[in-house]
Amino acid sequence: MSLFALIRSDYRRFVALGARRPLKTIFFYQGLWATFIYRVSNHLYYRTPFAPLRKLARFLCQVARKGIEILTGISLPPECEIGEGLYIGHFGTIIISSMTVIGKNCNLSQGVTLGVSGRGDQRGAPIIGNRVYIAANAVVAGKITIGNDVVIGACTVVTTSVPDRAVVVGNPAQIKSFRGSFGHIAYDGMEKDPERLASLTLSDPQNTDSPGVTQPGSPMLMEDQN
Ligand SMILES: CC(C)(COP(=O)(O)OP(=O)(O)OC[C@H]1O[C@@H](n2cnc3c(N)ncnc32)[C@H](O)[C@@H]1OP(=O)(O)O)[C@@H](O)C(=O)NCCC(=O)NCCS
Repeated sequence: MSLFALIRSDYRRFVALGARRPLKTIFFYQGLWATFIYRVSNHLYYRTPFAPLRKLARFLCQVARKGIEILTGISLPPECEIGEGLYIGHFGTIIISSMTVIGKNCNLSQGVTLGVSGRGDQRGAPIIGNRVYIAANAVVAGKITIGNDVVIGACTVVTTSVPDRAVVVGNPAQIKSFRGSFGHIAYDGMEKDPERLASLTLSDPQNTDSPGVTQPGSPMLMEDQN
Protein backbone atom coordinates (compact mmCIF):
# COMPACT_ATOMS: atom_id res chain seq x y z
CA MET A 1 0.00 0.00 0.00
CA SER A 2 1.34 3.46 -0.84
CA LEU A 3 2.10 6.03 1.86
CA PHE A 4 -0.75 8.21 0.63
CA ALA A 5 -3.20 5.28 0.75
CA LEU A 6 -2.17 4.46 4.34
CA ILE A 7 -2.63 8.08 5.46
CA ARG A 8 -5.99 8.17 3.70
CA SER A 9 -7.05 4.89 5.33
CA ASP A 10 -6.45 6.39 8.80
CA TYR A 11 -8.44 9.51 7.88
CA ARG A 12 -11.27 7.41 6.42
CA ARG A 13 -11.69 5.62 9.78
CA PHE A 14 -12.81 8.97 11.25
CA VAL A 15 -15.24 9.44 8.36
CA ALA A 16 -16.60 5.89 8.85
CA LEU A 17 -17.19 6.77 12.51
CA GLY A 18 -19.17 9.89 11.63
CA ALA A 19 -16.70 12.74 11.00
CA ARG A 20 -18.22 14.94 8.28
CA ARG A 21 -15.98 18.01 8.05
CA PRO A 22 -12.51 17.35 6.63
CA LEU A 23 -10.85 20.46 8.10
CA LYS A 24 -12.31 19.84 11.56
CA THR A 25 -11.18 16.22 11.40
CA ILE A 26 -7.65 17.17 10.37
CA PHE A 27 -7.21 19.99 12.88
CA PHE A 28 -9.11 18.68 15.90
CA TYR A 29 -8.24 14.98 16.15
CA GLN A 30 -4.74 14.57 17.55
CA GLY A 31 -4.93 10.80 16.97
CA LEU A 32 -4.82 11.62 13.27
CA TRP A 33 -1.74 13.80 13.73
CA ALA A 34 -0.01 10.92 15.52
CA THR A 35 -0.86 8.35 12.84
CA PHE A 36 0.19 10.81 10.11
CA ILE A 37 3.63 11.31 11.69
CA TYR A 38 3.92 7.55 12.23
CA ARG A 39 3.07 6.77 8.58
CA VAL A 40 5.59 9.27 7.19
CA SER A 41 8.27 8.22 9.70
CA ASN A 42 7.76 4.50 9.13
CA HIS A 43 8.08 5.11 5.36
CA LEU A 44 11.27 7.13 5.73
CA TYR A 45 12.69 4.78 8.36
CA TYR A 46 12.61 1.76 6.08
CA ARG A 47 12.72 3.26 2.59
CA THR A 48 15.29 6.04 2.66
CA PRO A 49 18.10 5.01 0.30
CA PHE A 50 21.85 5.42 1.03
CA ALA A 51 23.22 4.76 4.52
CA PRO A 52 24.17 8.37 5.53
CA LEU A 53 20.81 9.71 4.33
CA ARG A 54 19.02 6.86 6.11
CA LYS A 55 20.85 7.69 9.34
CA LEU A 56 19.72 11.31 9.10
CA ALA A 57 16.14 10.24 8.25
CA ARG A 58 16.02 7.90 11.22
CA PHE A 59 17.27 10.62 13.55
CA LEU A 60 14.60 13.01 12.25
CA CYS A 61 11.95 10.27 12.66
CA GLN A 62 12.87 9.89 16.32
CA VAL A 63 12.73 13.67 16.81
CA ALA A 64 9.27 13.75 15.15
CA ARG A 65 8.12 10.85 17.32
CA LYS A 66 9.22 12.67 20.49
CA GLY A 67 7.55 15.89 19.31
CA ILE A 68 4.21 14.20 18.67
CA GLU A 69 4.51 12.30 21.96
CA ILE A 70 4.91 15.58 23.85
CA LEU A 71 2.03 17.16 21.90
CA THR A 72 -0.48 14.30 21.95
CA GLY A 73 0.73 11.80 24.57
CA ILE A 74 0.72 9.16 21.84
CA SER A 75 3.91 7.22 21.18
CA LEU A 76 4.00 5.30 17.90
CA PRO A 77 7.61 4.31 17.13
CA PRO A 78 8.57 4.45 13.44
CA GLU A 79 9.96 0.89 13.67
CA CYS A 80 6.69 -0.84 14.52
CA GLU A 81 4.38 -2.36 11.93
CA ILE A 82 0.80 -1.08 11.76
CA GLY A 83 -1.77 -2.07 9.15
CA GLU A 84 -4.04 0.34 7.32
CA GLY A 85 -6.80 2.24 9.10
CA LEU A 86 -5.55 2.80 12.63
CA TYR A 87 -8.07 4.80 14.69
CA ILE A 88 -7.03 6.73 17.80
CA GLY A 89 -9.95 8.88 18.91
CA HIS A 90 -8.60 10.76 21.91
CA PHE A 91 -5.63 12.34 23.65
CA GLY A 92 -2.93 10.33 25.08
CA THR A 93 -0.94 8.04 27.22
CA ILE A 94 -0.88 5.54 24.40
CA ILE A 95 2.43 3.71 24.48
CA ILE A 96 3.31 1.17 21.80
CA SER A 97 6.53 -0.83 21.86
CA SER A 98 8.66 -0.68 18.73
CA MET A 99 8.39 -4.50 18.52
CA THR A 100 4.57 -4.47 18.39
CA VAL A 101 2.68 -5.50 15.25
CA ILE A 102 -0.87 -4.18 14.77
CA GLY A 103 -3.23 -5.43 12.05
CA LYS A 104 -5.73 -3.59 9.88
CA ASN A 105 -8.56 -1.32 11.06
CA CYS A 106 -7.85 -1.46 14.78
CA ASN A 107 -8.98 1.03 17.45
CA LEU A 108 -6.80 2.20 20.32
CA SER A 109 -8.46 4.14 23.14
CA GLN A 110 -6.72 6.50 25.53
CA GLY A 111 -4.37 4.96 28.05
CA VAL A 112 -3.58 1.83 26.02
CA THR A 113 -0.18 0.19 26.46
CA LEU A 114 1.06 -2.46 24.03
CA GLY A 115 4.40 -3.40 25.47
CA VAL A 116 7.27 -5.73 26.11
CA SER A 117 7.04 -8.27 28.91
CA GLY A 118 8.10 -11.83 29.80
CA ARG A 119 11.38 -13.54 30.59
CA GLY A 120 13.96 -15.35 28.50
CA ASP A 121 12.57 -16.78 25.27
CA GLN A 122 9.13 -15.57 26.20
CA ARG A 123 10.19 -11.93 26.26
CA GLY A 124 8.65 -9.85 23.52
CA ALA A 125 5.77 -7.65 22.40
CA PRO A 126 2.25 -8.50 21.20
CA ILE A 127 1.04 -9.21 17.70
CA ILE A 128 -2.45 -7.73 17.33
CA GLY A 129 -4.86 -9.06 14.68
CA ASN A 130 -7.22 -7.21 12.37
CA ARG A 131 -10.27 -5.23 13.56
CA VAL A 132 -9.25 -5.37 17.22
CA TYR A 133 -10.89 -2.90 19.62
CA ILE A 134 -8.76 -2.01 22.64
CA ALA A 135 -10.68 0.02 25.23
CA ALA A 136 -9.39 2.68 27.59
CA ASN A 137 -6.42 1.95 29.85
CA ALA A 138 -5.93 -1.65 28.73
CA VAL A 139 -2.46 -3.18 28.98
CA VAL A 140 -1.45 -5.88 26.49
CA ALA A 141 2.06 -7.13 27.16
CA GLY A 142 4.41 -9.93 26.23
CA LYS A 143 5.11 -12.20 23.30
CA ILE A 144 1.45 -13.02 22.70
CA THR A 145 -1.01 -13.04 19.82
CA ILE A 146 -4.35 -11.25 19.87
CA GLY A 147 -6.73 -12.73 17.29
CA ASN A 148 -8.90 -10.97 14.71
CA ASP A 149 -12.07 -9.15 15.84
CA VAL A 150 -11.09 -9.28 19.52
CA VAL A 151 -12.39 -6.77 22.10
CA ILE A 152 -10.18 -5.93 25.07
CA GLY A 153 -12.28 -4.19 27.72
CA ALA A 154 -11.41 -1.06 29.64
CA CYS A 155 -8.63 -1.51 32.23
CA THR A 156 -8.01 -5.12 31.16
CA VAL A 157 -4.55 -6.61 31.59
CA VAL A 158 -3.73 -9.21 28.94
CA THR A 159 -0.56 -11.30 29.22
CA THR A 160 -1.66 -14.46 27.40
CA SER A 161 -2.82 -14.96 23.81
CA VAL A 162 -6.47 -14.35 22.95
CA PRO A 163 -8.43 -16.28 20.28
CA ASP A 164 -10.35 -14.66 17.41
CA ARG A 165 -13.55 -12.76 18.28
CA ALA A 166 -13.10 -13.07 22.05
CA VAL A 167 -14.29 -10.28 24.35
CA VAL A 168 -11.87 -10.20 27.27
CA VAL A 169 -12.20 -8.14 30.45
CA GLY A 170 -10.60 -7.82 33.86
CA ASN A 171 -7.23 -8.35 35.49
CA PRO A 172 -6.16 -11.02 34.79
CA ALA A 173 -8.14 -11.00 31.53
CA GLN A 174 -10.99 -13.48 31.21
CA ILE A 175 -12.99 -14.35 28.12
CA LYS A 176 -16.56 -13.09 28.55
CA SER A 177 -17.99 -13.98 25.14
CA PHE A 178 -17.22 -14.40 21.44
CA ARG A 179 -19.37 -11.50 20.27
CA GLY A 180 -16.31 -9.94 18.66
CA SER A 181 -15.64 -6.31 17.84
CA PHE A 182 -18.27 -5.98 15.11
CA GLY A 183 -20.31 -3.28 16.86
CA HIS A 184 -17.20 -1.28 17.74
CA ILE A 185 -15.19 -1.12 14.51
CA ALA A 186 -16.29 0.70 11.36
CA TYR A 187 -14.27 1.17 8.17
CA ASP A 188 -14.75 1.69 4.45
CA GLY A 189 -15.96 -1.40 2.65
CA MET A 190 -16.54 -3.45 5.79
CA GLU A 191 -19.90 -4.73 4.53
CA LYS A 192 -18.08 -6.43 1.68
CA ASP A 193 -14.81 -7.41 3.38
CA PRO A 194 -14.74 -11.22 2.93
CA GLU A 195 -12.50 -11.79 5.96
CA ARG A 196 -14.82 -9.82 8.23
CA LEU A 197 -17.92 -11.47 6.77
CA ALA A 198 -16.47 -14.93 7.36
CA SER A 199 -15.61 -13.99 10.93
CA LEU A 200 -19.06 -12.46 11.47
CA THR A 201 -20.72 -15.70 10.43
CA LEU A 202 -18.67 -17.59 13.00
CA SER A 203 -19.33 -15.11 15.76
CA ASP A 204 -22.90 -16.11 16.59
CA PRO A 205 -23.00 -15.82 20.39
CA GLN A 206 -25.54 -18.66 20.48
CA ASN A 207 -22.96 -20.82 18.82
CA THR A 208 -20.04 -20.59 21.20
CA ASP A 209 -19.99 -24.36 21.69
CA SER A 210 -19.26 -24.97 18.03
CA PRO A 211 -16.03 -26.86 17.30
CA GLY A 212 -12.89 -24.83 17.71
CA VAL A 213 -14.51 -22.11 19.81
CA THR A 214 -13.21 -21.73 23.38
CA GLN A 215 -15.95 -21.53 26.00
CA PRO A 216 -16.47 -18.13 27.66
CA GLY A 217 -15.09 -18.06 31.18
CA SER A 218 -12.30 -20.49 30.38
CA PRO A 219 -8.65 -19.48 30.53
CA MET A 220 -7.30 -18.11 27.30
CA LEU A 221 -6.16 -21.29 25.67
CA MET A 222 -4.80 -20.26 22.34
CA GLU A 223 -1.18 -21.33 21.99
CA ASP A 224 1.30 -18.52 21.50
CA GLN A 225 2.14 -18.40 17.84
CA ASN A 226 5.63 -17.06 18.28
C1 LIG B 1 -15.73 -4.71 26.93
C2 LIG B 1 -16.78 -3.68 26.51
C3 LIG B 1 -16.38 -3.03 25.19
C4 LIG B 1 -18.15 -4.33 26.44
O1 LIG B 1 -18.19 -5.42 25.58
P1 LIG B 1 -19.55 -6.28 25.47
O2 LIG B 1 -19.28 -7.42 24.60
O3 LIG B 1 -20.67 -5.38 25.10
O4 LIG B 1 -19.72 -6.82 26.95
P2 LIG B 1 -20.89 -6.58 27.99
O5 LIG B 1 -21.09 -5.12 28.24
O6 LIG B 1 -22.06 -7.42 27.56
O7 LIG B 1 -20.25 -7.19 29.32
C5 LIG B 1 -20.01 -8.57 29.46
C6 LIG B 1 -19.57 -8.80 30.89
O8 LIG B 1 -18.28 -8.24 31.10
C7 LIG B 1 -18.31 -7.32 32.19
N1 LIG B 1 -17.45 -6.20 31.80
C8 LIG B 1 -17.62 -5.42 30.72
N2 LIG B 1 -16.60 -4.55 30.63
C9 LIG B 1 -15.78 -4.82 31.66
C10 LIG B 1 -14.55 -4.26 32.07
N3 LIG B 1 -13.97 -3.25 31.39
N4 LIG B 1 -13.94 -4.77 33.16
C11 LIG B 1 -14.52 -5.80 33.85
N5 LIG B 1 -15.70 -6.38 33.50
C12 LIG B 1 -16.31 -5.88 32.41
C13 LIG B 1 -19.78 -6.92 32.31
O9 LIG B 1 -20.09 -6.49 33.62
C14 LIG B 1 -20.46 -8.20 31.96
O10 LIG B 1 -20.37 -9.06 33.08
P3 LIG B 1 -21.51 -10.18 33.39
O11 LIG B 1 -21.48 -11.13 32.21
O12 LIG B 1 -21.03 -10.81 34.65
O13 LIG B 1 -22.78 -9.43 33.50
C15 LIG B 1 -16.98 -2.57 27.53
O14 LIG B 1 -17.41 -3.07 28.75
C16 LIG B 1 -15.81 -1.66 27.77
O15 LIG B 1 -14.77 -2.00 28.31
N6 LIG B 1 -16.09 -0.43 27.38
C17 LIG B 1 -15.17 0.64 27.51
C18 LIG B 1 -15.02 1.26 26.13
C19 LIG B 1 -14.15 2.47 26.22
O16 LIG B 1 -13.01 2.42 26.64
N7 LIG B 1 -14.72 3.56 25.80
C20 LIG B 1 -14.06 4.80 25.77
C21 LIG B 1 -13.82 5.20 24.33
S1 LIG B 1 -13.31 6.84 24.32
